Amino acid sequence: MDRFFIRGGKKLSGSIRVHGAKNAVLPLLAASILTDDPVVLTDVPDLKDIRAMMEILEKLGCRCTFGDGTVQVRSHTLQNGDMPEKLCKQIRSSVFLLGPLLSRLRNAQVPYPGGCEIGLRPIDLHLKGLKTLGVEIEESGGKIFCDGRNMHAGDVYLDYPSVGATENVMMASVLLQGVTTIHNAAREPEILDLQRFINKMGGSVKGAGTQVIRIEGVEKLHGITYHPIPDRIVAGTLLSAAAITGGDILLKGARSGDMVPVIAKLREMGCDVRRDDKGLALRAPQKLHAVGEIQTQPHPGFPTDMQSQMVSLCTLAEGCSLVTENVFENRFTHVGDLNAMGAKIRISGRTAIIRGVGSLAGGHVTARDLRGGAALVLAALAAKGVSVVDRVEYIDRGYEKMEEMLLTLGADVMRIQ
Ligand code: EPZ
Repeated sequence: MDRFFIRGGKKLSGSIRVHGAKNAVLPLLAASILTDDPVVLTDVPDLKDIRAMMEILEKLGCRCTFGDGTVQVRSHTLQNGDMPEKLCKQIRSSVFLLGPLLSRLRNAQVPYPGGCEIGLRPIDLHLKGLKTLGVEIEESGGKIFCDGRNMHAGDVYLDYPSVGATENVMMASVLLQGVTTIHNAAREPEILDLQRFINKMGGSVKGAGTQVIRIEGVEKLHGITYHPIPDRIVAGTLLSAAAITGGDILLKGARSGDMVPVIAKLREMGCDVRRDDKGLALRAPQKLHAVGEIQTQPHPGFPTDMQSQMVSLCTLAEGCSLVTENVFENRFTHVGDLNAMGAKIRISGRTAIIRGVGSLAGGHVTARDLRGGAALVLAALAAKGVSVVDRVEYIDRGYEKMEEMLLTLGADVMRIQ
């Protein structure tokens, strides 16, 4: 298991380009089987979850290639919808394949995706949405059997604006005759990217980015080459790395429109964040101010995927900050290690109460989930002395060679195999 060796205290500077968004690419890979023409995705980060999704597609009979940031999926050889148990347990986003498999084959079997480090991650909203479209669902022996022979367009209401459930229902309905409407749909930028992708393939989807999405079924979709949106969470994490080290960086390719709540909070903490034709720049203040309050919410609220990183920033901010995690049940896994580094954080229910301290001391810490691991790296970059971050495999799920990104910006970090 790899670990990072980080000597803190370096102010980050310089510029770096942000790679394509993991949470856009994963549903786009699923949607690529909606046609039996070849589909090409460019600017794809080489991440474990993306490799695992491609492996699942290959187990289903598709042919995938990945080189130099470009993925090609050919699904004319797609044989069956029986998804491989072990791989599906590795990545929860395998559940996104239900919709496209039902569109293509009118049947799918998926193992019940377990929970993960940050929460139970149920899929009841996915299944309820598919049932509204006439899918017959049976659960037995830890597997979910979906029979889509009588599928039809319909009006789906999501009890919660679930990103995955919205994407699954969109992909399940693009080839259904008639109009399917999704009410209380998720509004994340990645949903808009999926709409653009499907429409470029010849689909007819409107309303993504709002709470009501309208999908008019079409006969057939054709192959395309597509460039996904940049990763707003990787961008937010890099801005946070500059903020916590008193640095000054430029992110090329970041889309500020996707990052409004994160930029607002960084500005509240005293950072100068500017958008110009070169990209998104952040200059940190001498000392960060406390953020007051952060409540994670579905988009356009503050993103849960940036909560852990902001907690790290607040440990060194002047004053007291409150960060409440409203989306997942267990997303403070990094707090224990931050306190061991000298932070003053108390958890009360879903809220972290963070009293800013003057400095953190380097320590031997362990990543316990993807964004919690990134948060520990941020703390180590600002801490006095050396830190070791264990279980970097969690971080590799969402950041392509994070150590190289940080080295480009002047950090003193080394990956130890
Ligand atoms: C997507 O997960 C992202 N993953 C997550 O990013 C992100 O945190 C999340 O959206 C919220 O923005 C990908 O896109 C691959 P949800 P998803 O369905 O679709 C509950 C990261 O760090 N829920 O919007 O699984 C669920 O338990 C990852 O990159 C149900 O109750 O998120 C959670 O509390 C982590 N029933 C809430 O909704 C369901 O059927 C949000 O989940 C589905 C979800």
